[in-house]
Amino acid sequence: MPDMSRETAVEALSREQAEAELAALAGEIAAADERYYADDAPEITDAQYDELRRRNTAIEERFPDLVRPDTPSKRVGTAPAAKFGKIRHALPMLSLDNAFSDEDVADFARRVRRFLKLGDDAPLAITAEPKIDGLSLSLRYEGGKLVSAATRGDGSVGEDVTQNALTLDDIPRRLKGEAPDIFEVRGEVYMSHADFAALNARREAEGLALFANPRNAAAGSLRQLDPAVTRSRPLRFFAYAWGEASALPASTQMEMVAALGRFGFPINERMKRFTGIAELIAHYHAIEEARASLGYDIDGVVYKVDDLGLQERLGFVSRSPRWAIAHKFTAEKATTVVEAIDINVGRTGKLAPLARLRPVTVGGVVVSNVTLHNEDYIAGRDASGEPIRGGRDIRIGDAVVIQRAGDVIPQVLDVVEEKRPAGAVPFAFPDHCPICGSKAAREINARTGRPDSVRRCTAGLTCPAQGREGLKHFVSRAAFDIDGLGDRLIEAMFDEGMVHQPADIFKLSLGPVKALMEQRALAMRLEREAAEDAELAASGKEARKRGDRKTYDYSKAAQNLLAAIEAKKTVDLNRFVFALGIPHIGETSAKALARHFEDVRALIDGAAAAAKARPGEAWDRLTALRGFGEGSKALEGLVAAVEEKGETPDFDPTQHAGLRLNAPQRVALRESFGAGSAMVEGLRTAIGARAGEAYRAIAADSDIGPVAAHSLIGFFDEAHNREAVQALLDAGVSTENPLFHRAEVASPVAGKTVVFTGSLEKMTRDEAKGMAEALGARVAGSVSAKTDLVVAGPGAGSKLSKAAELGIEVLDEDGWFERIGRTPG
Ligand code: IVH
Repeated sequence: MPDMSRETAVEALSREQAEAELAALAGEIAAADERYYADDAPEITDAQYDELRRRNTAIEERFPDLVRPDTPSKRVGTAPAAKFGKIRHALPMLSLDNAFSDEDVADFARRVRRFLKLGDDAPLAITAEPKIDGLSLSLRYEGGKLVSAATRGDGSVGEDVTQNALTLDDIPRRLKGEAPDIFEVRGEVYMSHADFAALNARREAEGLALFANPRNAAAGSLRQLDPAVTRSRPLRFFAYAWGEASALPASTQMEMVAALGRFGFPINERMKRFTGIAELIAHYHAIEEARASLGYDIDGVVYKVDDLGLQERLGFVSRSPRWAIAHKFTAEKATTVVEAIDINVGRTGKLAPLARLRPVTVGGVVVSNVTLHNEDYIAGRDASGEPIRGGRDIRIGDAVVIQRAGDVIPQVLDVVEEKRPAGAVPFAFPDHCPICGSKAAREINARTGRPDSVRRCTAGLTCPAQGREGLKHFVSRAAFDIDGLGDRLIEAMFDEGMVHQPADIFKLSLGPVKALMEQRALAMRLEREAAEDAELAASGKEARKRGDRKTYDYSKAAQNLLAAIEAKKTVDLNRFVFALGIPHIGETSAKALARHFEDVRALIDGAAAAAKARPGEAWDRLTALRGFGEGSKALEGLVAAVEEKGETPDFDPTQHAGLRLNAPQRVALRESFGAGSAMVEGLRTAIGARAGEAYRAIAADSDIGPVAAHSLIGFFDEAHNREAVQALLDAGVSTENPLFHRAEVASPVAGKTVVFTGSLEKMTRDEAKGMAEALGARVAGSVSAKTDLVVAGPGAGSKLSKAAELGIEVLDEDGWFERIGRTPG
């Protein structure tokens, strides 16, 4: 048996030993690469990895004729020296809202006009340009010199790819001309069709895995730890936006992009400016027609309000600007067959149906499964038997049309009923959890009073699927983001019983972690060898003889992991909240909650207070009506009117002059509350059941909303959830909260509670709210002793008198602008 010991000096290796060791090294390095690149969960240290590669090269140098066709030394792009550093973007890198139809585009323009209070005829210039299908990059120049380059990452923090960006010919190291001192240029890195085809041909000849499309190839090439590899890949760049800038060289989008061109960047020649929707859409079609001949992938057209002053006023909602939208090209379609319907159980216990399809290529990508959302979607009807929009009656064996639009996940577009096989029966959705066998139930939606479309396993965290998925979510990138603790490793820890709940992660000790890593490495190796042998057997060859399997010492890797866990004992509150996996609380609402509560304790107390202040059913019914959402002007007006005039005989809220309800709002009120005195009575009951401030503060936050508010309350209502959170705190986890300090924004209204009332003439209500909040103020809907300032436009009524009564400072709109040191418009 050859001696596989790595202790043998290369010079002393026999030919036989060398051959065996090269084979083993090829397998180990490939496995390590897989863990690092595909799973993002390396199990050996960078130093150990480098040592494997060095040894491989040394042996190959001594025995050049033994170099294997699959040698790691010929494989480019898999030589991690160190993980990428992180760069926090000075201004977040945003994403874009999508439009899929001409109507969506018209809606976008209407929203912009409404927000800005622009009449239908007032000119509004909007640019249109191709949406490049690559990956976005932010380039920071200081004193005209490129100092850093970062990928988008999660929008706030990206990866430092500076050295790689420097290898792109399209990216100037120095800006030409008179550029601002500090200037972040943003744009898209992409690969042309010709370069992509050549790269893949080269890879095929070398026996390497092929890239699925130019976008993946561009991303894979930019995110290389070795800049030499990036240099060898033909990447290109278009500049189309900017981040932080010490000064702006222009005042419109169009001129800014022209300036980017003068500074030395490639800019897209198909960008144009228009003043009418019809022209925008015509340009969209022109770009769509040119699509095949552009030589690079685009997936739509981006429209942007041209005037930068207006962009500033429009601001952002969540992670997308209000002043821009992406008009996506229509999706690509293909027909295939549903071979089976599987049910997965997610971290919230949701039974998620997945159609297994006969694999089919849609727009260049092989699709073999597609989500079917929920049981109503599959049945095409809701729990009460009513047909639902978008629902399909999908059966096993059905021919279905699949659609894939850009990076949007594939969907079933249609069922080809003529092709339905005889005997196909409606899919029987399970009413028990396929994992743990517990009952799976549909919850009653608190707001609509109807059964939810989602069926959930009722076992909570005692269901293994939920426990496992919950832990994966807990360590995921947007949550605790623990280096080296990826999906597979946390799954293994769960399956081995090392970790049951999140707090256990912080109690792991070296021995068991090391043993698990060793055991997994060995299992992976055996699996690989079995696959190799099976392949050899299939081609009639004999299985290879292998020496003793040496296991590595995983102490260092285990130590690194524990250090990474220790490092995450302090996290930002929003990550902590997101990590808990509370249904309906995503990254955006978790961030919003972090603006309301300073730490975990405050959040738990806040949820308890909100639970007490929770509205009654009648109030929920009112705020569920279209046009009367929590925090809306119509709702506020209606409440004020009923409170003021409710006693007056024959009072009809729908006809109340000050209220100016539109027809759908009047109809909605009548349908829900009846007419005449019945309506007034119903509304008074609803108002009596109105939510208290502790509830309203979160439910009226547009990034949270009533559904997430109810869910938060429900989560902390459960003792086992409170215990799991307490266990984390007991394990030494603590939070920081940079978001909470909004009240410390240095502004004359920071920390103040402001109420806007009356009809505002110099700004829209949304704009006023956005402006005040950006300056660190809280905006409330009604005047109380807690109000610091009332801004009143013409026609202000009861709130103004209430302010006078309570002695609260009142400003008119001009006074407001003067106070915050700005000029209107
Ligand atoms: S503007 C604040 N313009 O699309 C607006 N984005 O879906 C920032 N993209 O993350 C984006 N071509 O990576 C803009 N001409 C273009 C674009 C473009 C491609 C990408 C960009 C962004 C994504 C949003």
